[in-house]
Amino acid sequence: MRQTVVAGNWKMNKTPAQTTELINELKPLVAESKNKCIVCVPFTSLANAIEATKGSNIEVGAQNMYFEESGAYTGEIAPDMLCEMGVKYVIIGHSERRQYFAETDETVNKKVIKAFEHGLTPIICVGESLEQREQGITVELCSMQTKIALKSLSADQVKKCIIAYEPIWAIGTGKTATTDQAEEVCKAIRETVEEVFGKDAANEIIIQYGGSVNAGNSKELFEKENIDGGLVGGASLKAADFSVIVNS
Ligand code: PGA
Repeated sequence: MRQTVVAGNWKMNKTPAQTTELINELKPLVAESKNKCIVCVPFTSLANAIEATKGSNIEVGAQNMYFEESGAYTGEIAPDMLCEMGVKYVIIGHSERRQYFAETDETVNKKVIKAFEHGLTPIICVGESLEQREQGITVELCSMQTKIALKSLSADQVKKCIIAYEPIWAIGTGKTATTDQAEEVCKAIRETVEEVFGKDAANEIIIQYGGSVNAGNSKELFEKENIDGGLVGGASLKAADFSVIVNS
């Protein structure tokens, strides 16, 4: 049995003070949840998030990191910097990073490898555009993105990964993939993992759905066999909504 894992992706929202406020509001609402709850906050809010979540069942993630150890990479954040703060998770290859910041499947793979070198759990994002869905290449594309992202990892590392299937057309648009569409692709991703890394890795890897997940649709999505939780953007910024999703 895989645990349900719900991660909030706050994107470029919340100052440090607002972060403390939101986490304090969220803590009592998710305290009894049997699902895992992660909040992925902006870099500048990490210290406040780590402090505010102490002694709670909420874990903290970053939204990106660089694939080098240190050096002349102005504006970038190294894995050590995250680890020293107590960060446990890092979103890698979100479609917004691929779209606006020129990330590729290859840089995603470098970051995933680097995350494991430092004991960080990557939340790897894959997903198709509307044009690609209409072309009928969704499964092929997500399978390829998955293979490249996981290249050179061991089966044991793959077991610890989280993959978030996020159709780009469903992100921030209010258009959720139907539960059947989401399940179909999450299942295909799991089959890809099985093909390359074997049955155990496929059984253990956490595969989330993301894209307009809200308090009204989360339960039905998470009940699907191959959907082990969600990566939640907009709805993670409201404690009441996010807690309903976490408790789904
Ligand atoms: P959304 O974003 O829930 O606002 O659609 C999800 C994401 O981009 O991770």
